[in-house]
Amino acid sequence: MKSIKSQPTIFIIYGATGDLCWRKLAPALFNLFLDGWMPEKFTIIGTGRTPLSDDDFRNKMLEGINNFSRSGKAAEPQWQLFAGHVRYTAGDVNKPEGYSNICEIVESNSKEWNAKPYVIHYLAVAPTLFPVIAKNIAANKLNDEGLCRIVIEKPFGHDLESARALNQLLNENYREEQIYRIDHYLGKETVQNIMAFRFANSILEPLWNRNYIQHIQISVTEQLGVEGRGGYYEGSGALRDMVQNHILQLLCLIAMEPPVSFRAAEVHNRKLDVLTAMRRFSPEALRSTVVRGQYGGGWLKGKEVPGYREEPDVNPSSNTETFTAIKFFIDNWRWQGVPFYIRTGKRLAESSSLISIQFRDLPHFVFPPEAIDSWQQNRLIISIQPEMSIRLQLQGKRPGLDMLLNTVDMVFDYKTSYSSYTPEAYETLLLDTMTGDQTLFMRGDQVEAAWDLLMPVINMWTNKPSVNFPNYSAGSWGPELAEAMIAGDGYHWFSLPVNGKH
Ligand SMILES: NC(=O)c1ccc[n+]([C@@H]2O[C@H](COP(=O)([O-])OP(=O)(O)OC[C@H]3O[C@@H](n4cnc5c(N)ncnc54)[C@H](OP(=O)(O)O)[C@@H]3O)[C@@H](O)[C@H]2O)c1
Repeated sequence: MKSIKSQPTIFIIYGATGDLCWRKLAPALFNLFLDGWMPEKFTIIGTGRTPLSDDDFRNKMLEGINNFSRSGKAAEPQWQLFAGHVRYTAGDVNKPEGYSNICEIVESNSKEWNAKPYVIHYLAVAPTLFPVIAKNIAANKLNDEGLCRIVIEKPFGHDLESARALNQLLNENYREEQIYRIDHYLGKETVQNIMAFRFANSILEPLWNRNYIQHIQISVTEQLGVEGRGGYYEGSGALRDMVQNHILQLLCLIAMEPPVSFRAAEVHNRKLDVLTAMRRFSPEALRSTVVRGQYGGGWLKGKEVPGYREEPDVNPSSNTETFTAIKFFIDNWRWQGVPFYIRTGKRLAESSSLISIQFRDLPHFVFPPEAIDSWQQNRLIISIQPEMSIRLQLQGKRPGLDMLLNTVDMVFDYKTSYSSYTPEAYETLLLDTMTGDQTLFMRGDQVEAAWDLLMPVINMWTNKPSVNFPNYSAGSWGPELAEAMIAGDGYHWFSLPVNGKH
């Protein structure tokens, strides 16, 4: 069991006046406090350039909690207890003197607690500020090897070169065990359950390979557009925003070999093996197994929505992709020849994240053809959101006097299996930064391996702007080419019916 009760901790949020702190970090820290996970002695220090008093900042946190916490509005007595631990200090992170107030609070807490506290630096700022903050923390001697940890938000780099440069800068000032590269997908319950499901059950492992699995799909689709973040998205796009981190991490969890133990280093090693074994793109593969798309105007949930190029802060002739679909292969013994199809995009027909594992067809069919009422090869579906479930699709006999086969689901649904609450991903990950557990974070070499894999795609798209953008309508399932790519192999993209029935 994780426990940090007796571990005095100072949690510093750089970018505390920003959206991430308001919507995610404040509710997560408060929920950890409510559930008894926070240490007995702790201080949360928020910092940003905006001049705020401690009380102003507390009120902003409270507003975030009341609006976004899974446990609803904060009750007054608990909030007052929590607020007593919260401080704010204004400063520009570019200026070394901006850190003197932080140093003073750390100093005075250490004296008051008569103990050296753990210090977690959470960089909830734009990526351009990661290097200067990392350097200034070290310059102010707030990077003590045994006690300090630094949490880096995504995106980690813009390409392989920038990711390498950031890793190098971090490694000059911190040991790898101090660096927490966050990918909030890895904190989601259903994502953590992939490892539990694979490595805490014996029945799956014999089937989990090229002999029994025909193909795998990972689909992360969003109805949302860029939601006022057009400026950010213009410099990112679907590949950098979703594939380089979340989707490749999901793929690693599905494809990795069983680790020797559930220790961070073992898990990271096995994930790195997957990324290393992923087939590099040949010029032909770049043409035939990679699809990009950008949405034009269309209709979603009965409302007309503008195309990407009409969004605020977006170049009217933008070349940024809002959709991508890719076929990957993993060249190792377990997965040789098994295609891994991934797709992700904005303004699609539905919002959902799921993994579908399709098993091979029957070697021989013993029933008469007329016995088929509906037919689906066995499929395991891991639904991450909105439904949190794992389904095994089997063929069964429809009740009645005839032998009629149809598809039925064996469902493990969080809602019906557990009455306990589901923590938010950020609660899990923030607690892990305090307990010093890096299992659900990304190691530097993994991040670089993911960039390395995708660089040919990035380079091709940069050098050859698309000639047919926009190429899908908002509210559709993406460009026709994505359908054609998978249909060419005899499959189709899978999506879970809204009511879960087939
Ligand atoms: N928002 C999300 O849901 C989300 C999700 C995943 C990842 N992220 C990542 O989290 C990070 C923060 O995102 P965000 O959406 O919270 O951004 P944001 O709303 O733009 O907030 C940026 C923060 O940085 C502070 N800041 C900017 N320049 C500063 C300076 N020179 N010195 C000190 N503070 C400075 C701002 O405070 P002042 O203006 O007061 O200085 C503000 O608090 C980004 O890396 C983003 O990619 C965000």
